[in-house]
Amino acid sequence: SMAEGPMDFGGGPELVHDPLRDKSLAMLTGPRDREPDRKFLLTAEKKTIELRPGQPFEAWTYNGQVPGPELRIKQGELVEITLVNQDIEDGATIHWHGLDVPNAEDGVAGATQEAVMPGDKHVYRFIAEQAGTFWYHSHQHSQEAVKKGLFGSLIVEPADSENKGAEEEITVMTHVWDGIGLAIGDRDGVQRKQVVPGTPVRIRLINTQDWLRQDYTLTGTPFRVAAIDGTDLNEPQELENVRIELTTGGRMDLTFLMPDTPVFLSVGSSDKLGILLSRDGTGGIPDLPVTTAFNPIDYGKPADTAITASSDFDREFEMILDNKLAFYNGQFGSLYTINGEVFPNTPMFMVREGDLVKTTIVNRGAVDHPMHLHGHHMLVLSRNGEPSTGSPWYSDTLDVQPGEIYEVGFVADNPGLWMDHCHNLTHAAVGMSMHLMYE
Ligand code: C2O
Ligand code: CU
Repeated sequence: SMAEGPMDFGGGPELVHDPLRDKSLAMLTGPRDREPDRKFLLTAEKKTIELRPGQPFEAWTYNGQVPGPELRIKQGELVEITLVNQDIEDGATIHWHGLDVPNAEDGVAGATQEAVMPGDKHVYRFIAEQAGTFWYHSHQHSQEAVKKGLFGSLIVEPADSENKGAEEEITVMTHVWDGIGLAIGDRDGVQRKQVVPGTPVRIRLINTQDWLRQDYTLTGTPFRVAAIDGTDLNEPQELENVRIELTTGGRMDLTFLMPDTPVFLSVGSSDKLGILLSRDGTGGIPDLPVTTAFNPIDYGKPADTAITASSDFDREFEMILDNKLAFYNGQFGSLYTINGEVFPNTPMFMVREGDLVKTTIVNRGAVDHPMHLHGHHMLVLSRNGEPSTGSPWYSDTLDVQPGEIYEVGFVADNPGLWMDHCHNLTHAAVGMSMHLMYE
């Protein structure tokens, strides 16, 4: 059993499956028979960065910058991204977090491809079907690669966006760097930005941290939560004095009309880290309000969905999340379990294409588990017995806090072998990972 001897979990969960062992998975690619609409080149390379003067950090980067370059594409476009690994000895991949791409383009080393080793390259191709806020990151030893900087934002603009008028868009990626603390993107402290009053503003929050649920407060204007995990909410109401809590890997879009007076997005509940927007980029930081946490369960207005709580489900699964103490790698530590097992002994959920699937996720442990399902979006049906009564709330990275129970549903419409794991990537590396597999 797990507790009897040292185990090597150093490779993370990704290296267990023989890549492409099932030849049919290799067929599940994006279109390769025509020219792409857009091409990108991302080079994985080591680079010393300085978030604060005098505090160098050995980062792993895409194109020598952290975060990597923001990839902006239009919904419906065929995109081609070439990954070159310059000098990451561990190997690298690119996973398109939250974007439901064909299986062979999903970028999971050991499941959908082999890790790209130094000197090698790999070409991804997919049509961006969903518009919204996503991100990309390496999925080879991801608990280390993401921490060190192999990530960037991925924004898919709606196909009709040229008719939408000028919006000011601000992407905010928050990340904890080894020994350096929290930073927004590549900088630390308060950043300032000029925004003309009357401009519609969209802030795209992306939390790339390995373990920390991040709070944000928007002060100086009422706002709406327009999207969660890359999916628009239906008729979101205006909010004020509400705190956004974003799980690791999660995204939320906040929208508002720029007022005449300054607006401050604070990261954490501090006036020392955030972004100040004002007419001329100057101005004092408004006092931070007392807030309550944003709760999506009854926010926005209901709308039709392909699946509902009363659907006739073809499969029902249960995921019990927990942890146990064990002796491994020469010391006692926690292993993180799904249904009592650690990867690769965790269950594999088998589905058929077209199935309506319901999963009940229960956290019996003492810490948050942001559960991330690849290739599909989960519709939240209920949380702690309370049915979802607002806008359809789709998630790809669902923060399941201690004691919580979620019921989620999804349509099995993307064949392949998919990861389902905790996006506290350290938990994923020591057990809390599993696969969803199409028969
Ligand atoms: Cu963002 Cu399996 O990862
Ligand atoms: Cu976890």
